[in-house]
This record gives sequence, C-alpha cells and structure tokens, in this order.
Amino acid sequence: MSTGSVVHAADVEVLHWWTSGGEAAALNVLKEDLASQDIGWVDMPVAGGGGEAAMTTLRARVTAGDPPTAVQMLGFDIQDWAEQGTLGNLNDVAEAEGWADVVPEALQAFSKYDGNWIAAPVNVHSTNWVWANKAILDELGIEQPTTWDEFVAALQTVQDSGKVALGHGGQAWQDATIFDGVVITAGGPEFYKQAFIDLDIDALGSETMVEAFNRMDTLRGFVDDNFSGRDWNLASAMVINGEAAFQLMGDWAKGEFLNAGKVPGEDFLCFRMPGTEGSVTFNSDQFAMFDVSDDDAKAAQAAMAASIMSPTFQSAFNVVKGSVPARTDVPDTDFDDCGKKGMVELAEAAEAGTLMGSMAHGHANRAAVKNAIYDVVTAHFNGEYDAETAAEELANAVEGAM
Ligand code: BGC
Repeated sequence: MSTGSVVHAADVEVLHWWTSGGEAAALNVLKEDLASQDIGWVDMPVAGGGGEAAMTTLRARVTAGDPPTAVQMLGFDIQDWAEQGTLGNLNDVAEAEGWADVVPEALQAFSKYDGNWIAAPVNVHSTNWVWANKAILDELGIEQPTTWDEFVAALQTVQDSGKVALGHGGQAWQDATIFDGVVITAGGPEFYKQAFIDLDIDALGSETMVEAFNRMDTLRGFVDDNFSGRDWNLASAMVINGEAAFQLMGDWAKGEFLNAGKVPGEDFLCFRMPGTEGSVTFNSDQFAMFDVSDDDAKAAQAAMAASIMSPTFQSAFNVVKGSVPARTDVPDTDFDDCGKKGMVELAEAAEAGTLMGSMAHGHANRAAVKNAIYDVVTAHFNGEYDAETAAEELANAVEGAM
C-alpha cells in the first residue's frame, strides 16, 4: 500500500459494540485468533450496550455505499439486512465445515435467510440472569432467592442495610433486558411467547402484563438515585465493588466479573431471575458479512467465519465473554460453574420448548416492534405511566408498529 497504513491483503473491518473491559478481553481472543491466520483487523467500535448505536452507524455506512466487511449483529436485524439484499453468502464455508449439523435450529433461524447462510454465530447469551455479590449476601444472611417474593425480600434486606439493592443503569435497552425476565415471572414462558413472539394484543394489554409492570415498579424502588443513564458495565462494577448486591443483566455481565479477577461461587453468584427457572431468553451475537466484490475481501470473510465457528475458538472466546458456544459439540471443560450451568440450561430449555428469543436483544421481533416496546417500558420505569396505563400503551404501541 502506498498510503503508509499497514493493510494486509486480507483485512476485515469489523463493526461491533464490545467496548467494556470484559467485552474488550473477549474481542482480543478473536483478534488474536485472526492475527494468527494473517487476517488483518480494522477496528470499528461503536459503544452502547444492545447495539442500537452500532446499528445507526451501520445504516449510515451502508447508505454511503461503504459497508464494513463484518458486523456484529443480533437476530432480526440480520434478517432485515438480508432481506435488503446487502449480505454476502457463506454457504461454501458453512457446507465445508458442516455448520448445519452443529448450530442449534434456534440460531440457524437467524443465521440463514432464504436457505442461505448469511451470518456466523459466535455465541449464545441469555438475559434472565441475576448477578450477586456473595460477601454482601453472606454478611446480611441472605440465602439465594428462589421465588419472586424471596427475591423482593432479599432486595428489601439489602436496602434496609444502607447498601444499594439493585445496581442498574437507566437506559431503555437495560430496562427492557430486565423486562424479558420479569414478564416470565408474572406470566410464565407461554405468556412471554404470546406477548413478545406472537404479539398477541390481548396478552400485551392483559392483567398479567399489568402485574409485570407492577413488578417493574417494585424493582424501580430498589435502584439508587443515580441510576439514570448509567452504562451497564458500571452497574456491574457496583456489584463487583460491593456497592450494590444484585444486578439483573445478561451473561455478558460475567465478563466484567472475570475481568476484575472475581471467581463465581466465591466472589459472586449467578442464578436465573427467581421465577424464571427453566426458561432461557437468548440472544446470539453473529457476524454478518456484507456483500463485497473484492475476491481478497471475500476470502477474508470466509476465513473469519470459519475461524469463528471452530470449536476451539468457540470455547476460548465464550469462556471470556460470559456466553456459551453457538455449537452443540463444544466440551464444557474450560467453562466455570456459571458457564457450565448456562450450557446445561440452554440444552434443557431447547428440549422443553422454553428457549425463547430475547425481546430486549432483537430475537423476538423486528426492530420497529422492539423499539415500540422499549419506549413504553422505559417511560413506565421512569414514572410516566402507572402499570395499568403501561399495559394499555404497550398493546397500542405494538399494534401500531406491526
Ligand atoms: C450483546 C452482547 C453485549 C451486550 C452489552 C448484547 O446485545 O449480545 O454481546 O456484550 O449487548 O453490550
């Protein structure tokens, strides 16, 4: 290259939102893996959990005719871009590597469009988790709660002690992440499916949904005064540092604990949101490859996809990221107790029909519907609506967005 910049023959420019400490550590596993195969990395980070800001940047890049080669993407966004004919085709590498046999159906539903592979899944996260500071629980004599009522009682005990009960960041996607689990505590997995997957308007406006919003009110009573706008990883840090007892967050939070040198079972506990055991609300980070004309770039995309899908990479990456592998044949040997539990629960939920796409992370519905739900959930959490009104508004908003 004459420009002086170091660009390999096969570079990938990767747009992603992995900017927290734990996420960056996981990203390094990926970068190093690609570097070992001489695939160059051009970094395009766009901060913002849940990826909304990243998707806005992506739209601008595509509109300008300059899409990145590889993009971290969630669920229905992948399908949207595929529908617009912007994604490349990974069938050759998928066939050569036998992806169809090892990638769970629930993920393939997003990795394929019209029968063609268009994205490579790097992990499976899930959102209905609680992260707890073990020392605080021990000090206050709190047992791991197993029901919603026990959880509320535990939160109350912490609050009474003067500590923050719930470390939370008031951002729409974080409120929605909590709502994934809370809706299951209120109505069970079938109700979650009716409301968020089938978009049954009666379910969305039902008394059960009012109860879900009541439970959000309860949780709102346990956050600190400075919660508004706080990034999720700073809320994790509150639990890590012993400032707060609990965080309700997807298992990317585990990456923060590990990055801070904390050990599951000793320093922190991971368990399903009480009242959601048996259900898993999942999201999978996938790398969608944009259609590029250059043969070298195509080859780099295929090499990146093959590398992401290798069992050893899936283990090494997910051990650090907090997620579990996107293939069913990766041994759990290197995973900690939370990871092992996550793998077992994923398989069990898939078997039981209680593995459900996360509404908050784009795996239940398209962005228009998701955003309509975000608006109502966050307005309610910030006191704009009471629970009754919120359920009505939710039904209206979703109907309007369909
Ligand atoms: C992604 C995770 C990420 C989290 C917070 C989620 O949507 O799936 O990989 O760590 O957002 O940024």
